[in-house]
Amino acid sequence: MANRMAQLIQDDGHCVFMPIDHGYFQGPTRMLENPRRTLEPLLPYSDAVFVTRGVLRSSIDPGNTKPIVLRVSGGTSMVGGDLANEAITTSMEEAIRLNVSAVGLSVFIGSDYEHQTLTNLSRLVNEGEQYGMPVMAVTAVGREMEKRDARYLGLCCRIAAELGAKVVKTYWCEDFEKVVEGCPVPVIMAGGPQVDTELEVLEFVDDGMQRGAIGVNLGRNIWQNEHPVPMIRAIRQIVHEGASAGEAHELFQTLKAESN
Ligand code: 5RP
Repeated sequence: MANRMAQLIQDDGHCVFMPIDHGYFQGPTRMLENPRRTLEPLLPYSDAVFVTRGVLRSSIDPGNTKPIVLRVSGGTSMVGGDLANEAITTSMEEAIRLNVSAVGLSVFIGSDYEHQTLTNLSRLVNEGEQYGMPVMAVTAVGREMEKRDARYLGLCCRIAAELGAKVVKTYWCEDFEKVVEGCPVPVIMAGGPQVDTELEVLEFVDDGMQRGAIGVNLGRNIWQNEHPVPMIRAIRQIVHEGASAGEAHELFQTLKAESN
């Protein structure tokens, strides 16, 4: 377990995970139509990749040396009934055979499927403990992005940690330190739908890191950007080098100019 965690969280205690799992309920998401093409330029700057087994098998070479966090929940779609109605879709044996560093699933607290998704988490943790496999809980908010406040996200993160998640992924929000303080395991930030400017992304990453996040699991605001590599490198500068949002934005502009 400790070895797998060390593969994910770098020596400085921080991490940049690259999620390309969105297709498991969204289908061919914009700029992720071809996962291999999207991922390849970003891999060198990613500490780990968050992906389903289907995309791992089809779109990532076995010689890839980056740690994998395997998305093991699903069973819903954007056009179906309720996104929260998830089951565990991939066995622990499969995760081990795929030699992954962690498994991840969503929990939908406050939804009709709260109990189901929380017991999915508990079951996965039970299995993970048998094999030394960390579980990352994704505190999903479905389509209701207005739920992104410290009280709700703090509740979700704490419950996920209480049930045994080794790391919790949530969204950045105002007063993010309240989310982190109430959660006894490391917290990482997702990005959510693409926002208007690069600076906005860099500012919330900077703010969240200062308030105690250990890193990011941030997808669309990187690979839906017109300049994904400059974007991930700017984010890395904040997460791993302690740069401010302003400094990271300068790096983004420089790299963007070079790539034009
Ligand atoms: C999608 C996920 C994503 O991994 C997570 O939301 C991070 O990606 P983004 O930054 O695009 O929100 O769990 O189901």
